[in-house]
Amino acid sequence: MTDQPTEILVDGVNPYPVVIGRGLRFGLASHLGSGVNKVLVVHPPTLGAAAAELRASLIGQYEVLLAEVPDAEAAKRIEVASFLWGIMGQADFTRSDAVIGFGGGSVTDLAGFVAATWLRGVRLIQVPTTLLGMVDAAVGGKTGINTTEGKNLVGAFYAPAAVVGDLDTLTSLGRNELLAGFAEVVKYGFIAGPEILDIIERDVEVATDPESPEFRRLVELSIGIKARVVGEDFTEQGLREILNYGHTLGHAIEHAERYQWRHGAAVSVGMVFAAELARLSGRLSDEVVDRHRRILESLTLPTTYPVGRWQTLLATMQRDKKARGSLLRFIVLDDLARPTVLAGPDQSLLFAAYQEIGS
Ligand code: GLY
Repeated sequence: MTDQPTEILVDGVNPYPVVIGRGLRFGLASHLGSGVNKVLVVHPPTLGAAAAELRASLIGQYEVLLAEVPDAEAAKRIEVASFLWGIMGQADFTRSDAVIGFGGGSVTDLAGFVAATWLRGVRLIQVPTTLLGMVDAAVGGKTGINTTEGKNLVGAFYAPAAVVGDLDTLTSLGRNELLAGFAEVVKYGFIAGPEILDIIERDVEVATDPESPEFRRLVELSIGIKARVVGEDFTEQGLREILNYGHTLGHAIEHAERYQWRHGAAVSVGMVFAAELARLSGRLSDEVVDRHRRILESLTLPTTYPVGRWQTLLATMQRDKKARGSLLRFIVLDDLARPTVLAGPDQSLLFAAYQEIGS
């Protein structure tokens, strides 16, 4: 395997590269460029030491400020965004300065939102440090924060100048966190990249070892699919919706579990539900549905949910911001790598699919 970085271009009005490799977090100057003076590095408490190392690699060329923000969803609050705007204001941040989002999906969502809104947009480099962030959250230019009414209700589509996927940052991830990130990798496999499924099925231990060439290949394939979809449909007018495979029920489960379930675990159940919906509506074979369960279970991800919770989940899905008008929308498969939208399915079909995943 080569240690050369892989570069994948995300096309669009403002094209940008996603670079994948090892040790890349120490080469951010090449993405910041020479016009930048000040850099704000936004990071969670757990990455304090790593952020200081990152700062050391930039100091001398830039004035580097570190800003610690809370972990996970607690980062995505207006108070935290305001704290960062305050730091930028105090430091006289101009349009030629830059923000680096260094952390998981919540931190890169927040950092992206602050970069998008400060002076109507400053340079942004995303450096995701979780698998979920690397293959999904940090890649597509979706930025935002939550409000008391729901997740990601305030935000902007904002293209970063670059996304730097340093695989070395994943070696210290907890096993459960890494496996939860695999739900998104499996999602890409079912909607567009069957090679992903083959690699996981061949040897799940090797596939989930962040040091293995197979793992790197999975990251590259996943980002390649995301880049292609986002390049064609940055603002989610159509095609990008396929990236929500498993997410309609998944988001409702996260809400029902008061965000104590990992996103990937909820999406895992959501994908099996979507597969059952497709099977019961005559689109998908038993074999592909079974394959969902087999692969997700091999990654120790959940594939069932308690039967008695349907009404609560349904009510939450109805409120889902992706519902158009009063119609519920699900991404389902006509076959492997053939995603389509199922709009306004019968309540009886939904309930029947839910019973298939009931525990
Ligand atoms: N995570 C789904 C998207 O980026 O559109």
